[in-house]
Amino acid sequence: MTVESKTASTVSEPEIRRMLDELGQIGREDNGAISRVCFTPEEEEGHALVASWLHELGLEVTRDGFGNTVGVLRGFGGTGRSIAIGSHVDSVPSGGNYDGAVGVIGALEAARAIAGAGVTLEHDLKVVCFTAEEGARFGMPCLGSKAALGLLTEGDAERLTDSQGLTLSSAVEARGGHSALLGPAPWVAGVEVFLELHIEQGRVLEDSGQEIGIVDWIAGNRRLRLGMRGTTDHSGATPMPLRRDALVAAAGLVMDVDRLARRTRGLVGTVGEFAVVPGAMTAVAGSVDMSVDVRSADVMIQEDTILAVEDSAQSRASQQGVSLTVQDISNVAPIMLPAWVRHSLTDVARRLTERPRVMTSGAGHDAAIMARQIPSGMIFLPCRGGVSHSPEEWASPRHIALGTTVMADAVVDLDRLLAENLGES
Ligand code: HGY
Ligand code: MN
Ligand code: MN
Repeated sequence: MTVESKTASTVSEPEIRRMLDELGQIGREDNGAISRVCFTPEEEEGHALVASWLHELGLEVTRDGFGNTVGVLRGFGGTGRSIAIGSHVDSVPSGGNYDGAVGVIGALEAARAIAGAGVTLEHDLKVVCFTAEEGARFGMPCLGSKAALGLLTEGDAERLTDSQGLTLSSAVEARGGHSALLGPAPWVAGVEVFLELHIEQGRVLEDSGQEIGIVDWIAGNRRLRLGMRGTTDHSGATPMPLRRDALVAAAGLVMDVDRLARRTRGLVGTVGEFAVVPGAMTAVAGSVDMSVDVRSADVMIQEDTILAVEDSAQSRASQQGVSLTVQDISNVAPIMLPAWVRHSLTDVARRLTERPRVMTSGAGHDAAIMARQIPSGMIFLPCRGGVSHSPEEWASPRHIALGTTVMADAVVDLDRLLAENLGES
């Protein structure tokens, strides 16, 4: 028996292109890169555009205290139980227009296609645009989804700062948010499953010619900010044995992180931030601030590696006679997404594409946070060359429409499945 797609005929690729183009004008730089960094006017403009689209669809639109935008399509059940779908529109600095945006636009289009197909859901359908998914500014990723679940603390808000020293707490208040850091957001109550559509941000699907990925594990991340403090000295007059060179110590640590990651299967390690002071050709560097981002789908490997990084940092600093400061920025354990959600997604995907692939996500996502409290699933689509966090990021509207159809059909299937289980409970 072939089960027809409920929404393939109503998911509109031209509509997806239109929304992508419109959103892509926000935060666009001359070279085509996108900067919609969290808590900036550009991110705000992105949320305002999403809210206008939600209004156009006739959804009830709210913004929670931390800044997540949510639209609700009421189901006929009137039980207050819901299914949530969504992602984020904030980007890394000079990034691309697809990371996150594909999941928000796909969720909007899925809601429109479900209504357009005349399908009435028992559950409410919540379309969510999370704020501050990218950790590029405050170091900790997925701030919006963490706040929504009540997983952020006042301590986090005071401890986390951007490169200008602005605390997360001040950024939230400047946007009119506040105690939302502490409590779960009201819209989360009754959400029974969360789905996120996202570009893969790697090359596995493209290299294998597959169009849809269904995620089983989402890698975690451990992030540190380290400071090396030596003595700024004259590069000509200071003999080598007398130097306390912070740059030599930090550079050694960069190589240690790279070597650790390359020799450990299933692990990636990156130093992305590296600020040298004074950064002059004729001065021995007295100070370096740097970041370390370590990720694995295995929590033991992730934890062992970050301990090894801290040991390396200490020995590199001692060798150069410089002092070391270490700030723990983020600690997200890897998570396995529940099999029953994954099976639902895979069943739907098999109806719509040749060979859906079950795969692990090396990148972090809001779904990894939502899955801490709510059964969640992720649908991947290929992106060109696997490139992401770059102006070269691109995915075909056809693949986005296919991924949207998988998500929309899965919402319809899960609505029935949960209603039946509800009947049993
Ligand atoms: O950095 C990540 O893992 C994701 O793209 N926010
Ligand atoms: Mn993302
Ligand atoms: Mn990202």
